[in-house]
Amino acid sequence: MSIPEYNPLSPAALADPYPLFERVHREAPVFFSERFNLWIVTRYEDIWTALRDPATFSSAISTTVGTQVLPEVEAVLAEGWGEVPTLVTSDPPAHTRFRALISKAFTPRRVAEREGRIREIANALVDGFAAEGRVELVWRFAYPLPMTVIAEILGVPHEDLDRFKRWSDDVVARLSAELSPERQVACARSLVDFQHYFSERLDERARAPRDDMLTDLLNARIEGTEPLTRGEQLSMLQQILVAGNETTTNLIANMVVLLLERPEAWRAVRADPAHVAAAAVEEALRMESPVQGLFRSTTREVALGGVRIPAGAHLQLLYGAGNRDAAEFPDPGRFELERANASSHLAFGGGAHFCLGASLARLEGRIALQTLATRLPGLRLEPGAELARVPHFFLRGFEQLRVEWELPA
Ligand code: HEM
Repeated sequence: MSIPEYNPLSPAALADPYPLFERVHREAPVFFSERFNLWIVTRYEDIWTALRDPATFSSAISTTVGTQVLPEVEAVLAEGWGEVPTLVTSDPPAHTRFRALISKAFTPRRVAEREGRIREIANALVDGFAAEGRVELVWRFAYPLPMTVIAEILGVPHEDLDRFKRWSDDVVARLSAELSPERQVACARSLVDFQHYFSERLDERARAPRDDMLTDLLNARIEGTEPLTRGEQLSMLQQILVAGNETTTNLIANMVVLLLERPEAWRAVRADPAHVAAAAVEEALRMESPVQGLFRSTTREVALGGVRIPAGAHLQLLYGAGNRDAAEFPDPGRFELERANASSHLAFGGGAHFCLGASLARLEGRIALQTLATRLPGLRLEPGAELARVPHFFLRGFEQLRVEWELPA
């Protein structure tokens, strides 16, 4: 069945994609979008079937909507290292090697060691605006928090954060459909600038090693396998920077809006942030998944959800729809802090490609919420302020989020 209305970039879908998800769950849980030449998989169970079978559902194109690369874009990319497949765009066994080389830095234990520093960063950001009584929260808090954390993990200076933000935004924009040719060229230019910047930093670490992730990546070895090439190192850095930033920014903004629009849940968080914040993060990830879906290609003809999909087809695993599947999450449109299976959501994907940064993202989300709930009394959405969604094919967040609170008399 074809669903011509499926267009994640339409104003209606950006505002509220969930009525369509509910309809296709009933009528066509796996459907074909002619407009994007994509098979869309929306049911929780069917998404898991694909995630468990990377030999049939390959990740080689997992971040590509399917548009052709223009010759002028290719020319710009040729000035860098190109787009080398690693991690999210690779399949086992190559994927297993990439993942093993980097996963140590993101284990729950290594991440927990960063808690104190992440709290300091969150508090310092709030110090910067607490006396103002109102703020645009994306720019002043939700973006700089994960960006500062990842810059410190990588070992790059704070002065370069704004450049990272531009590169990261442009690399993310490249992944969305329907960009003008000029914008595609500008975004490719950002990717090449990013590659040259990090290649120079890696050269510096080769001359003078430090205790940071750039040095670890340079020295990463698994016995019996080849060392990483420079192109592979840059591809992995790009994924960490991009995967870890806008996604976490969007989690924070989505969560704040979900809570401020639900006074009862917000009261529960404020009453006991130490204990309730973790549940709020899980439910926010489920209700408004920052990554609404990623892509796979079929290596053979296969039946999924009762639908025959040919070999070589492109699919979108719509995690955001799986997370609203009533068969898995009863009353899926309700924000429930006590949901028994809340953390079995698909916001971080699943299987071999399960988000490498999930522990870090959860910790940052929890600290962000606790800091806002305890430091800004009477926090609320600014009345009348527009809540504009990021116009992206598969990322869900807010471009701007204006909030206000009470200042001491
Ligand atoms: C709320 C925040 C985040 C969300 C919603 C998110 C979501 C995801 C999802 C859905 C995938 C699966 C990809 C697939 O199905 O192909 C993924 C993979 C990945 N994520 Fe995250 N992510 C977040 C934060 C982070 C952070 C903080 C980092 C790193 C610092 C990170 C690094 C990665 C990497 C490297 C992969 C690829 C893993 C692989 O292919 O083995 N993510 N993420």
